[in-house]
Amino acid sequence: MAGEILPIRSDSPLYVGALRLRYEVFVVEQAVPADIEVDELDEGAQHFVVLDGDEVVATMRIVPYGDALKVGRVAVRKDLRGTGLGRRLLEEAIRVAAAQGARALVLNAQVAAAPFYRKLGFVEEGPLFDEAGIPHTRMVRRMI
Ligand code: COA
Repeated sequence: MAGEILPIRSDSPLYVGALRLRYEVFVVEQAVPADIEVDELDEGAQHFVVLDGDEVVATMRIVPYGDALKVGRVAVRKDLRGTGLGRRLLEEAIRVAAAQGARALVLNAQVAAAPFYRKLGFVEEGPLFDEAGIPHTRMVRRMI
């Protein structure tokens, strides 16, 4: 049974588990090139993981974005999708944004995942665009 959401930094041993899950989901499953999956923002980001035993089964990261925060790399292990882990991660992002006084939360959603983010109060903004060969839409959740 998956546990609580743990905030970590990239110097945590759990970060390796987060990267492993991201590789499995984005590179293997979705064919995102490995060399762009980890970018220069990763080192300083706030990362969040959910463990099942000692395995990372869900993760996301949050980076500063002007007076807003940007959510990214949201991934849930395939066999655990649809069980509420993604929702719990995004609710944590919303809590963090409120606690930090961020104006908004923004993200680039895969079009296929947009209905998931809409349920959490995000709305589409602007045109569709391509990222790593996958159609994306910018989504925003205003905090104030
Ligand atoms: N389309 C429509 N609705 C979706 C959805 C989708 N792709 N994914 C989840 N939902 C809905 C669920 O049905 C649920 O609705 P409910 O509250 O009315 O029951 C709600 O969103 C929350 O679902 P949850 O179980 O918390 O979602 P999840 O744990 O499966 O996480 C993702 C959602 C997108 C993070 C997960 O599917 C995933 O890791 N996908 C692969 C990686 C990816 O594409 N990440 C997003 C990059 S932008």
